[in-house]
Amino acid sequence: MNIAVKPESGAELSEAYATPLAELNPANIERFQNDTIWPVFERLRREDPVHFTADSEFGPYWSVTRWEDIMAVDTDHEGFSSADGIGLANLKAMEEQEAALKAIGQEPRRRGGAGFITMDEPEHSVHRKAVSPTVAPANLAKMAPLVRERAGQILDSLPIGVQFDWVDLVSKELTAMTLATLFDFPFENRRKLPYWSDMVMNQPGHGPVKSWQHKAEAMMECFGTFESMWNERVTSGGGNDLISMLTAHPETRAMSREQYHGTVILLIVGGNDTTRNTISGSIYALNNNPDQYAKLRANPDLVLPMVSETIRYQTPLAHMSRVATRDIELGGKTIKAGERVVMWYISGNRDESAIENPNAYIIDRERPRQHMSFGFGIHRCVGNRVAEMQLTIIWEEILKRFPVIEMVGEPVRSYSAFVHGFESMQVIIPARA
Ligand code: HEM
Repeated sequence: MNIAVKPESGAELSEAYATPLAELNPANIERFQNDTIWPVFERLRREDPVHFTADSEFGPYWSVTRWEDIMAVDTDHEGFSSADGIGLANLKAMEEQEAALKAIGQEPRRRGGAGFITMDEPEHSVHRKAVSPTVAPANLAKMAPLVRERAGQILDSLPIGVQFDWVDLVSKELTAMTLATLFDFPFENRRKLPYWSDMVMNQPGHGPVKSWQHKAEAMMECFGTFESMWNERVTSGGGNDLISMLTAHPETRAMSREQYHGTVILLIVGGNDTTRNTISGSIYALNNNPDQYAKLRANPDLVLPMVSETIRYQTPLAHMSRVATRDIELGGKTIKAGERVVMWYISGNRDESAIENPNAYIIDRERPRQHMSFGFGIHRCVGNRVAEMQLTIIWEEILKRFPVIEMVGEPVRSYSAFVHGFESMQVIIPARA
């Protein structure tokens, strides 16, 4: 069997296959944290591609694991709604968070309420259209030289011959820098952006989150900062950054405070975790596939396809979910109105019926953009070109400077079945070019 990065031990394989199908909960976070998810999804694609988990910490939910079926759900925005949230949420954690918010006098947020990613039509398109010009290729071309210059500064400041955390010094720095540029956010405070993203995405005891109270306070700080930016841009007007664009468009200008906060969080999280984990994922995959790393060094024209292959292979967002609006037949099963459906992009990206040799990391594939990591349909990632731009720039700049970046030991993976990534990754750069 060709499982590229980390061959499973016999125990992992037999656990995935021995568990009765009815009890299989593919969102089990421990398996994501210790990287043992692969045999579970392989089994589901073969034996039960539209799978129902009746009881879990996330409540009951359907798992869709094959390429074709995921496409069918993602492109049917009438049959499947995003309004009640797009990720699996731990039910106990949600209750605890609500209690913590009430304790500090905050209104608990609805399960959706995370910007336009949790809106259905026609409302969704209005909000999406207001931000899409900022992240369209024409505006990005204007931003690119500044992103390149700042990326170069980050790389030039890295220590040589000394072990350090790649996630912290490079992946977070670079995404924070690009996002600060997009928002026209005070540059000296840019690390606040990945910090807030980490506070949103983690539960107490993970990442920087110490308690629910701590998390709620960080959110209040974030919303307060973006409130001031809104007020300042409403008055000044005319800017090309994301916040100015939201204040300028008549419909988004009229949005409620909760909607504005949701949009801000969406852009921060959307732009942070995903790109950050692709940068780390590329170091991981290239170190585990030295033949591919050598190919890249020999031919820097392969940077763009390598970036796409990493986005497929890593699948920085493992899933998106929807709620069925009516009874729908899929893969011989009936999904009932009101039931939650999870599209496992991470599994679709390893579906051999859509991608040849999907478990192998091959940076010069014929169709490198053929992957599900950005989704499909009306919610397809609006930031996909920003992501490709910054990832391409950083790798062009890395290849100019460092012959090799060596990963030291195994990285620490994120405690999440949604964000598929790394909390830390030790590396050493032996020498400059
Ligand atoms: C490798 C990097 C990235 C990945 C893998 C990724 C992945 C995704 C996915 C899977 C979706 C939902 C698709 C669906 O439901 O069909 C999405 C939506 C979105 N992403 Fe990204 N994303 C990335 C980078 C970015 C960046 C850099 C930004 C912002 C600057 C961003 C902003 C958004 C927004 C605003 C949405 C909501 C779109 C909508 O609902 O219409 N993303 N992204």
